[in-house]
Amino acid sequence: MEKLIVRGGHRLHGTVRVSGAKNAVLPIIAASVLGTEGSKIAEVPELEDVSTICKVLECLGIRVDRSEPHVLKIDSRNITGWEAPYDLVSTMRASFLVMGSLLARVGRAKISLPGGCAIGTRPIDIHLKGFEALGATIKQSHGSVEALAPNGLTGTTIYLDFPSVGATENLMMAASMAKGTTIVENAAQEPEIVDLANYINVMGGKVRGAGTTAIRIDGVKSMPGGEHMVIPDRIEAGTFMVAGAMTQGDIKVENVLCEHLKPLIAKLREAGCIVEEGINDVHVVGPRELKPITIKTMPYPGFPTDMQAQVMAMMCIAKGQSSVLETVFENRFMHVDELLRMGANIKTSGGRAALIEGVPKLYGCQVRATDLRAGAAMVLAGLVADGTTEITDIYHIDRGYENLVSKFTKLGADISRVG
Ligand code: UD1
Repeated sequence: MEKLIVRGGHRLHGTVRVSGAKNAVLPIIAASVLGTEGSKIAEVPELEDVSTICKVLECLGIRVDRSEPHVLKIDSRNITGWEAPYDLVSTMRASFLVMGSLLARVGRAKISLPGGCAIGTRPIDIHLKGFEALGATIKQSHGSVEALAPNGLTGTTIYLDFPSVGATENLMMAASMAKGTTIVENAAQEPEIVDLANYINVMGGKVRGAGTTAIRIDGVKSMPGGEHMVIPDRIEAGTFMVAGAMTQGDIKVENVLCEHLKPLIAKLREAGCIVEEGINDVHVVGPRELKPITIKTMPYPGFPTDMQAQVMAMMCIAKGQSSVLETVFENRFMHVDELLRMGANIKTSGGRAALIEGVPKLYGCQVRATDLRAGAAMVLAGLVADGTTEITDIYHIDRGYENLVSKFTKLGADISRVG
């Protein structure tokens, strides 16, 4: 079994370039099902999750050419299937995002119930309620969901009970070829939603208002396809920024849109870091001693839940008491037990709140990457721990970080992959 070995104690310095955003590219690839000709997507990160969603497209009869690095050429002229099998959906919840585009393009979709990171129960009720509002019939049986709209979908107004990122994306795709206009109210406002809307529009769709809480989608008869460049990964950028903060580092993170990182930048400044925002980069200098901070995760533009674990690793070495309130997911504290093994002082209550009393030192030991971002938190903790940290179950990390080892090595970290 492969492991990451991190030897702590090095101050990080230098420059690192962030890849295209995982959470933008996955819905964008799913939206490619809509195109009657095909698409070319650039700045595609080389990740396990990208391979998985490409396999889902291939199951539908779509041809995906990945011969050029970081570029996908998608030939979606012929759709021959409408089912996403269990083995693919079970490893990645985002496979469920092909449901909206399949419904729009061929009027039917059958998808196994999703898996992915084991954070909370993660239901799909908001997606299904939206598809039904657009006129689809939903059947659930034997671990699969089937949606049918043999005569097409019809635009309507849909209010989301929670601004779910995946449901907003799925409904934008489904509505893009519906008859008439759809308004998605209480929509998610994440930058990845805006990137998907931009892609749908270059393909020939008509989406307005993405990035606000009300998105208007005017259905079109068909969409040929188009060319698109994926936005930078704000969570990968944030992970490097926290690494700089924790190691008394001095690092420049390139290919960053600071506009997408406002809550993290504010919190790093509160913790005592110097953060200089450039047009396409950000420079972070970590302090000698980190100050304690408080975070509450929220839908965008609030503090991102996908940075909660990494920032908790930072809180573990701040001087004083920090706190975390996780409001987006239930049970997103699986990294706490692993941080405790390294000597952290954390008390949780109710699965959503944590108090973190900073300790002078963390100690390297064997820990697990319990999910993708928890895995990143283990790497960060390992960078400052005394001795060697061995991280297992690193397939979670591979789902979302491209070339993590070489990027950290270039910044001066002592990290290697073995096994
Ligand atoms: C996306 C991101 C993930 C991020 C999350 C929140 C991708 C591929 N993944 O996941 O990295 O952590 O946004 O920013 O973009 N919910 C329901 N019913 C639903 C849908 C969601 O109750 O039908 C709940 C979930 O259980 C969760 C919350 O809503 O508690 C947020 O989920 P959602 O915004 O849908 O996250 P994902 O799209 O799955």
